[in-house]
Amino acid sequence: MRILIIGAGGFIGSHLCEKILALRRDWHVTAVDISFVKIEHLLQDKQLRTIQINILTDMDSVDELIKECDVIFPLAAVANPAIYVQNPLKVFELDFEANLRVVKSVVTHGKRLIFPSTSEVYGMCKDNEFDEEYSPCVTGPICKQRWIYSCCKQMLDRVIHAYGSRDGLRYTLFRPFNWVGPRLDDISNAEQGSSRVVTQFLSNILHGRDINLVNGGHQTRCFTYISDGIGALMKILESDHVDRQIINIGNPHNECSIATLAQKILDLAKKKYGRGNMVKIKIANSNDYYGKSYQDVSKRVPSIENAKRLLDWEPEVGLDELLIKTMDFYFSR
Ligand code: NAD
Ligand code: UGA
Repeated sequence: MRILIIGAGGFIGSHLCEKILALRRDWHVTAVDISFVKIEHLLQDKQLRTIQINILTDMDSVDELIKECDVIFPLAAVANPAIYVQNPLKVFELDFEANLRVVKSVVTHGKRLIFPSTSEVYGMCKDNEFDEEYSPCVTGPICKQRWIYSCCKQMLDRVIHAYGSRDGLRYTLFRPFNWVGPRLDDISNAEQGSSRVVTQFLSNILHGRDINLVNGGHQTRCFTYISDGIGALMKILESDHVDRQIINIGNPHNECSIATLAQKILDLAKKKYGRGNMVKIKIANSNDYYGKSYQDVSKRVPSIENAKRLLDWEPEVGLDELLIKTMDFYFSR
């Protein structure tokens, strides 16, 4: 199998490359990105080919690679909420426009697509558990630009689904719910909003800055350890009965409020890593932290019935273990 991973130098891409290569099957990975720092340890592997391409400016090269490969994972995107509000057009151009070109090329060449949707497509849905088939996708007014990411991803989900119906595109859409682990974001960047929440809190602790609970931190997320997520992706890759399916990949047992998360991380940092002794947890207004065009999701829990049924998959790593494994990576080096 020839596997093309676009955005292979990112968080999910780097773990996916690692897992595929570790299997030592007769599989070949072509890794496309603008940076390969996160897969430096894999660069000598003979089954890996890295090609530096900016997919915003060189779609011709990407098209050639799609023609050569069997399965395509287009993982390049902006996935940080601070950027949705600061630079919504950057999100549109990469997450939507560039990825649409990739999807069209996959359709033209008749290849298989495994595409990252997101839990964010459900937006402010009020269901207790978000269901791929029944839950509505609820976003806010246009002035709340936070939803541009959700809308870009939702539109691509709909386009991909339509190509499946009309042209027989073989696709699987997977929806990660807050995957976390080593290599998530670069915590050396001290700027507020530069990372997703777990790595943001680690960055704050590293730089001795207070932790901000946006609007009080009552909102919840279901944090999912990266090895569980990658386990699901491998099952998708090896399955022949997940075409035209949408599958939530998250850990409903790890639901946690952001306030509880902050306390857990700070307690662990002090106890296990001797860090964060001067750091306090404070409340921040979202208008000040992200800006006025931010809006939040108050509760986000996946139904994983599809993943259980189609993939025989269930997450295994609990929240405390997830935090220790992630903090070991960032603080023990
Ligand atoms: P990431 O930011 O870690 O990785 C994205 C990669 O894309 C980076 O290595 C980046 O260098 C690369 N990239 C950016 N612009 C590029 C360009 N112009 N040309 C080539 N490469 C470019 O993101 P991630 O967390 O690994 O997410 C991967 C995918 O999964 C994204 O589509 C994201 O929206 C989706 N997703 C992730 C999560 C999560 O929990 N991490 C949740 C839901 C959805
Ligand atoms: C994320 C991002 O949109 C994507 O990475 C991804 O597609 C999606 O979720 C997902 O994983 O499914 P979100 O969970 O809101 O969205 O992003 P985080 O930056 O991780 O924030 C989580 C929560 O923590 C938010 O309520 C945010 O307001 C809060 N937060 C964040 C704080 O309270 N303090 C901070 O310093 C940072």
